[in-house]
Amino acid sequence: MNHSGSSFLRGVGSYAPARKLDNLELSQRVETSDEWITTRTGIKERRIAGDSESTSDLAVEASRRAIADAGLRVEDVDLVIVATITPDMAFPSTACLLQHKLGIPKVACFDLEAACSGFLYALDVADGMLSSGRYQCALVVGAEKLSTIMDWEDRTTCVLFGDGAGAAVLAREGEGAEMLGFQCGADGSNPSLLQQPAGGSLLPASNETIESKGHYLKMNGREIFKSAVRVMERAALELLERHGIDKNEVSHVIPHQANARIVESLSQRLEIPMERFYCNLHKYGNTSAASIPLALDEAYKSSTFQKGELGLLVAFGAGLTWSAALVRF
Ligand code: ACO
Repeated sequence: MNHSGSSFLRGVGSYAPARKLDNLELSQRVETSDEWITTRTGIKERRIAGDSESTSDLAVEASRRAIADAGLRVEDVDLVIVATITPDMAFPSTACLLQHKLGIPKVACFDLEAACSGFLYALDVADGMLSSGRYQCALVVGAEKLSTIMDWEDRTTCVLFGDGAGAAVLAREGEGAEMLGFQCGADGSNPSLLQQPAGGSLLPASNETIESKGHYLKMNGREIFKSAVRVMERAALELLERHGIDKNEVSHVIPHQANARIVESLSQRLEIPMERFYCNLHKYGNTSAASIPLALDEAYKSSTFQKGELGLLVAFGAGLTWSAALVRF
């Protein structure tokens, strides 16, 4: 799936739950240390949503901020897409729950699942739907409550992830950053690299799936690491090439916030200096579909972006999926 973009990024917003869980506190739960987590991942702390706070609640706050940032009202939104791997429930979609909580009119709402690439996939889909002329203004959200699918006794995964949400408003017309194009892809040949094995039609919930911890995230970290760098590099280079843009023209790279070493490897492979990469993973860990919009919002609001500069957003996730987007700010 790849094409040239035709919409404008009118506003962005994000929300992270107040509760911070730092490496020191984690090291009292599992056998790990601040030193191990920091040197292997760059993560210092992550946010954990409250028991009564669901993914759609996180999405509500981020969406309100994005719609306000766009200078629009909820009545202006005619399409809602939520990217998530931790929906409030299997159905109805988190997008429908979000629509109701925000008071958005009875417009098209659906969820999209492409794990950590989900937000960029959703931007691509929204951009395509806007270009059809049948929609004018899309609310695109990445929101996750990953703390609910963590095995808090598994030190190889629980130190990496956190909760959060980010949102963007895309419109067919008006001012804002221009979405230039997208590059999305996937390789489904090895799903066990990163998965939540139980709870679907293959392994429905049962006493056995609970006892075997099948409802928690399972990951082969080392293999994911190697694939992540390779697929993000390829997606970025193919997208740049298709648009005839030299990598030196890219002023800002907003990568998926999984691991500082993955970002550094990507910087080296792309030969784009680390100063141009935005990183906030030390504060939030990996928030999957929320990671890119959380970083985009913080980067955008830090006002180091000049009009006309080029931004490259790039992600990878379970599937394996990958995605890249080019934005002219
Ligand atoms: N604390 C202390 N020791 C640990 C911890 C921990 N939290 N976790 C693992 N270890 C140990 C391991 O048991 C192993 O010990 P051993 O040598 O005695 O067997 C040792 O540390 C090294 O483990 P590795 O897995 O080789 O460590 P590595 O350097 O590869 O780092 C990590 C692991 C951080 C998971 C890395 O592989 C990584 O970041 N991978 C990518 C993961 C990722 O990005 N996932 C998100 C995908 S996006 C999505 O869709 C959700």
